[in-house]
Amino acid sequence: MKYRTIGTDPTTRREVSVLALGAMLFGSVTDETTSFALLDRYVEAGGNFIDTSDNYAFWADGSQGGQSEELLGRWRRSRGIGDEIVIATKLGARPLAPGTGFVDNPEGLSAKVIRESADRSRERLGVSTLDLLYAHIEDHTVEPQETVEAFAALVAEGTVGLLGVSNHAVWRVERARALAAAAGLPGYEVLQYAHTHLRPRADVPSGLFPDGSLGYAGPDLIGYLKAEPGLTLVAYSPLLRGAYTRPARMPAEFDHPGTPARLAVLRDVARETGATVNQVVLAWQIGGDLPVVPLAGVSSVAQLEENLAAVDLELTPEQRARLDAVH
Ligand SMILES: NC(=O)c1ccc[n+]([C@@H]2O[C@H](COP(=O)([O-])OP(=O)(O)OC[C@H]3O[C@@H](n4cnc5c(N)ncnc54)[C@H](OP(=O)(O)O)[C@@H]3O)[C@@H](O)[C@H]2O)c1
Repeated sequence: MKYRTIGTDPTTRREVSVLALGAMLFGSVTDETTSFALLDRYVEAGGNFIDTSDNYAFWADGSQGGQSEELLGRWRRSRGIGDEIVIATKLGARPLAPGTGFVDNPEGLSAKVIRESADRSRERLGVSTLDLLYAHIEDHTVEPQETVEAFAALVAEGTVGLLGVSNHAVWRVERARALAAAAGLPGYEVLQYAHTHLRPRADVPSGLFPDGSLGYAGPDLIGYLKAEPGLTLVAYSPLLRGAYTRPARMPAEFDHPGTPARLAVLRDVARETGATVNQVVLAWQIGGDLPVVPLAGVSSVAQLEENLAAVDLELTPEQRARLDAVH
């Protein structure tokens, strides 16, 4: 395994594995035995960066979520896991009532929600400190100052380590970070967005996120990362939920003339290296100039092994240049 640092403050920054493990479906779609086997194997391979959320996976059973955090809590206890494993969680997109969703009825990012939801997550995970807590989606009903101060209060009292943000317009991230910096408070340092090698169309409307975006890291976010070296991009859905190997799953936003060219280069590099396309995507993200941590979900140990092996796949500068340049 290889590692990289997330965060800049010496008291809260962490060393995490370059491949993160998504636990979104653990405890709901993925049963407990399989989930534990996946977690055990990931840790055995040196992985220490696990991702969940307070609302995972509410859609699986019409609940408000929490099954993933609860499973991780049971796994931590049964394995005697301590500080060595970094578990990131999120708040803000938990449905306020069973049978509703985060589009129509989200908990949001008020000071009250931030305090109460963080406490519930600590309890479900069985930890005194949340290693990394993200704002999951935008909340247009709350002043950013309130959100910034509420997150910072949790850091100050030691119940949260690092702060992160997901699925927000870049200008809102910058505004929140600027407000925090001006007040001498900790701000978001880890940015979690959908990111893979294929590029989505920007003109496909989303009903999911408040600003109508699809949650992808676009050129504006990549530019922001370049300008702010202390930030890390955690790339969710890097494998397009299995679409690289099962094309029927390819999301509509990738149905455009740029996709075949990018797929062709991925396949060429896969052939040259003897790796799979999935591995080339992960290795391309891991070894690039920008700090990107792919966050992949898996439902079998075979998938996990394939993804772990990508950590040791070294692309040549020439292969990387071809992957970067293709339009
Ligand atoms: N911040 C956010 O809003 C947000 C949104 C979505 C996800 N996430 C996080 O990101 C994590 C990963 O996201 P994701 O599950 O959407 O995307 P993903 O990692 O792109 O897709 C995971 C799925 O891809 C398939 N897969 C994985 N490895 C494979 C392999 N080696 N070969 C073939 N198929 C493979 C599996 O599908 P099958 O199980 O069907 O075989 C697996 O369940 C989640 O667990 C969650 O923690 C965050």
